[in-house]
Amino acid sequence: MEFFPVYQLFDIMPVQGRGCYLYTEDGQRYLDFYGGHGVISIGHSHPRWISALVEQAQSLPFYSNSVRNPLHEPLLEAMARVSGMTHYQLFLCNSGAEANENALKLASFHTGKRRVLAFEGGFHGRTSAAIQVTDLCQAKAPLNSGIEVTFLPLNDIGLVVAQLRKGDVAAVIIEGIQGIGGVQVPAKAFLQELSAACRQYGAVLILDEVQSGFGRSGQFFAFGHAAIEPNLVTMAKGMGNGFPVGGVLVHPDFEARPGLLGTTFGGNHMALAVVTAVLEVIEQEQLISHAAQIGQYLINELRIMRGVRSVRGRGLMIGIELESEAAPVRRDLLFTHRIFTGSAAPANVLRLLPPLSAGLAEAHYFLDSLQQVLTSKKVYS
Ligand SMILES: Cc1ncc(COP(=O)(O)O)c(C=O)c1O
Repeated sequence: MEFFPVYQLFDIMPVQGRGCYLYTEDGQRYLDFYGGHGVISIGHSHPRWISALVEQAQSLPFYSNSVRNPLHEPLLEAMARVSGMTHYQLFLCNSGAEANENALKLASFHTGKRRVLAFEGGFHGRTSAAIQVTDLCQAKAPLNSGIEVTFLPLNDIGLVVAQLRKGDVAAVIIEGIQGIGGVQVPAKAFLQELSAACRQYGAVLILDEVQSGFGRSGQFFAFGHAAIEPNLVTMAKGMGNGFPVGGVLVHPDFEARPGLLGTTFGGNHMALAVVTAVLEVIEQEQLISHAAQIGQYLINELRIMRGVRSVRGRGLMIGIELESEAAPVRRDLLFTHRIFTGSAAPANVLRLLPPLSAGLAEAHYFLDSLQQVLTSKKVYS
């Protein structure tokens, strides 16, 4: 048997991770400035993460959501304290796409509508249609009978309001910072006006913080930079630091109904233990302010680097727009300097999503290496 070939592979096989580094079997060390698609928040194999997982696996790794769970309270307390979203409720699932599916469905159930506004360059997941082939009435919402989406340019509030005025919009979904779209940061004023317009016209504002959340932007959620209060917030990636888990934070205005949302594995015991540990480490090691500082340092240095056209992002979510194609630069960073970096939809953007614990030593090594690659004699075009 073979794996279904949907992933492009680099010919490298890491077998161990520690902090900001990956190691191959022959002991070669690689700096991870991509965190496996922005998943690694507190660092690979953090001791607190390992003990949470191992201790939980030794007592009760899984039971269904139909019984009381002693891990709920510690997680809710940690989530409220570290995120500051004290009055929201939490729904847990397994991935970013699933979090967005649930948020869109909740918005549709709440408003009775099924039209959604999304933004050009956005990415919210790859799933579709499971609910449409499901015959279970309590799990249905208007959106499930066929979603209607209008894509709009980012940062154009006039076009958003023109759509909202039609009165048939259930939800507006937007990433805290667009990741795959090339690390595009929505303007603070745009987010504030969007939030006010959604309130005025009765549309649900969904902030997709799957990639930009859990401290990555130098705030717990990237929308915190605009000080808005979304109706629904979706999260995944950094939440589990490698353990598959996602979630939706739900404003108390939303009405719950048994069976409306649900999942077999979501909120399992190991996920609860791990997310609680991740939140505690973020808090204890002050990783959010650390990410803000190191990120700003990197951004400042990158802005004056030869071969760099522009730099976008916040904290440790950084998009470097190069004067040339990013793919050969990424390959050279990986195979010559042993650094993992990420790509984005625009072919000339290099995306950085290092662990939030990355320090000055890692930043300097990355900057020196990138400068060498960009000024080497190879022609990247
Ligand atoms: C902003 C955003 N939303 C949703 C997703 C989908 O998450 P998952 O791959 O966990 O389904 C991603 C994945 O990259 C993402 O970046």
